[in-house]
Amino acid sequence: MESAMASPATKEKVLEENRRVHALENRLYLSRHPEQTNFFQRGILEKMMAEVCTTLRPGSKILDLGCGTGYLSLGFLSRGYHVTGLDLSREMIQAFEESIPATLRPQARLVVGDAEEFLSQNQDEYDVVVLSAILHHLFDYESVLRQICVRLSSGKQLLVFFEPLKQEVHSPIKFVLHRALSWLDEKLYRFEMKAKSIPVLDDEYHHSDYQRQFGGIDPNRILEILREEGLEVLKIEKYCARRYGLHAWLANRVLGTQNTFNLFATRP
Ligand SMILES: C[S@@+](CC[C@H](N)C(=O)[O-])C[C@H]1O[C@@H](n2cnc3c(N)ncnc32)[C@H](O)[C@@H]1O
Repeated sequence: MESAMASPATKEKVLEENRRVHALENRLYLSRHPEQTNFFQRGILEKMMAEVCTTLRPGSKILDLGCGTGYLSLGFLSRGYHVTGLDLSREMIQAFEESIPATLRPQARLVVGDAEEFLSQNQDEYDVVVLSAILHHLFDYESVLRQICVRLSSGKQLLVFFEPLKQEVHSPIKFVLHRALSWLDEKLYRFEMKAKSIPVLDDEYHHSDYQRQFGGIDPNRILEILREEGLEVLKIEKYCARRYGLHAWLANRVLGTQNTFNLFATRP
């Protein structure tokens, strides 16, 4: 794939790589990413969902851009909300569709497509726009974020969830411990994936995680954009996600390192 990206990246190439990689991820996506399903991350997810949902009326409409296999969307569906799930990958959407219980299907609308294109063509109003682990896959995440802000009227909300951020560990001792924990986490992960015969795809992600080339997403830049667009940030949390819950717990409670952020904002 190196040759496909040898020339400077264009939006079309980033889209192409994302389609290719997520076709490989497919229905094994969440099995391959235990950092999204371990007890530590589940706790964070449940708390954030509860906070967002307390502000919603029954029947509210959610737009989940880059919904994947329904990591957040399934929770919104099971709480009775209407979800439009959009994803670039036909395979991820298909896996999501297959996992929706029959009783919840009428509440779900699933669309295959590019987030930016969808936002420019679709004029529907949504109560919450969800972006979970998608910004770092976008060629121009700032433009997508601004497009979303513009269409959020008063009281509507934006949830940015599980977005990787640039890691900075200033203390040398903490840095060594952080690296050691990260090494152990990855070793165990590879062992588990091998035991379960799940191929690991990390080299594949090199180009589809486009924003990682620039150090990942800077939450301060997101805050700046939201402020410029007139949104009020209700909550921002930064923490360390790890493949295994115990490692995440240690990273957060003992080392205090950060590699991920969540953010909840609204238009006053
Ligand atoms: C890391 S996965 C996250 C999936 C899901 N939101 C979650 O949190 O589990 C990123 C998802 O974004 C989708 N994606 C990447 N670029 C996209 C784009 N331009 N428009 C829509 N979806 C995109 C991918 O196909 C993939 O399903």
